[in-house]
Amino acid sequence: MGVSTSDGPQVIGIIGTGNISAAYLKIARDLNLFRVKAVTDMDAARADTVAAEYGIQAMTLEGLLADPEIVAVVNLTPPGAHADVSLKALNAGKHVYSEKPLAVERGDGQAIMDLAHARGLRVGCAPDTVLGAGIQTAREIIDAGRIGRPVAANAFMMGSGPESWHPNPDFFYQRGAGPLFDMGPYYLTALVTLLGGVQKVSATTTTASSQRLITSQPRAGEFITVTTPTHVAANLTLDGGAVVTLVTSFDVPGSDVPRIEIHGTDGTLSVPDPNTFGGPLKLRLRGEKEWTDIPLTRPFAENARGIGLADMLAAAPGQPHRAGGDLAVHVLDVMHTILESAEAEKTLTPRTHAERPAPLDAQPTWLAATLPT
Ligand SMILES: NC(=O)c1ccc[n+]([C@@H]2O[C@H](COP(=O)([O-])OP(=O)(O)OC[C@H]3O[C@@H](n4cnc5c(N)ncnc54)[C@H](O)[C@@H]3O)[C@@H](O)[C@H]2O)c1
Repeated sequence: MGVSTSDGPQVIGIIGTGNISAAYLKIARDLNLFRVKAVTDMDAARADTVAAEYGIQAMTLEGLLADPEIVAVVNLTPPGAHADVSLKALNAGKHVYSEKPLAVERGDGQAIMDLAHARGLRVGCAPDTVLGAGIQTAREIIDAGRIGRPVAANAFMMGSGPESWHPNPDFFYQRGAGPLFDMGPYYLTALVTLLGGVQKVSATTTTASSQRLITSQPRAGEFITVTTPTHVAANLTLDGGAVVTLVTSFDVPGSDVPRIEIHGTDGTLSVPDPNTFGGPLKLRLRGEKEWTDIPLTRPFAENARGIGLADMLAAAPGQPHRAGGDLAVHVLDVMHTILESAEAEKTLTPRTHAERPAPLDAQPTWLAATLPT
């Protein structure tokens, strides 16, 4: 089921040319890990502008999906459109790499995986920040036993909401987004990558305000009606027994709490922001009074959104890729379980399970020939 060939970078198409598309287009241009042949957007003018900027083609959705040269599509539409677009691409015979979350509803996430399996196609999903230098070096330290047995972790995404910077922030306050579905995938994917799948969940939520005022341009002064919780506090028990406190919030004016800390029997690891690829990574062993900065020993310390796609495109037949759909289905399921636990005021068990993906090699084969010196 591998999609690599010896004829140079794989050819892909991008669906959705909004805010995040530049990150994928830039890495394709700068690192040559894959070649973007075409983009499409339901706003054709937006696709035209992006295509002109990168010297590539703007196509209709149908045209892009019918192009035989394009082996995979990257789905950069808003969360509510993910399932529909990914299913269309799979039905057209294309491998799919989706921005997070894989879908809004559990059933849609599973339908994507079922169709992919039936058609022998691959599904990958962001975030691939967990394949970056920061989280991968943290994984190396945990796996080497330097903090002993992981006992607990705390993970905090404390923000005041994207209406101050995103040009089109409505979707962040609808089902399928909010701080949990928008930012939770970074934190949950990092926790599963570092420690293991989620076995048990209990949670509480609140919403500071039913209306949010947009202060970013071009829509400053408009209000958004909030239909999903904006502060979500969860306790998770992971494989291996580590107990995690996870808080995701758009209701916090300011905070100094760390992003992720993992506490083991022999030491604590301070893990970098999982929405980035780099550091800082710090270690404090039991009895030590100071933190030690840990040098990053893995590649990709700078923004490298797209390496999960490169890893998927290069995977050998029968070998799993790392930023995989099954992991994304588990993360989606855990997020629903968190909201359901808060509503039911009960501890719940997620319906799915995921194993830790394999660490990224220090020298991925698809990287050796392509990193600039
Ligand atoms: N903006 C960020 O910083 C950021 C960072 C990481 C991940 N993401 C994720 O990337 C995805 C896109 O986010 P964004 O910020 O770029 O959103 P955006 O609103 O800026 O852009 C989305 C684009 O998709 C197009 N679109 C919507 N439905 C479509 C459809 N059915 N077919 C074709 N085009 C369609 C829209 O016209 C728009 O141009 C989301 O899943 C988000 O969670 C965004």
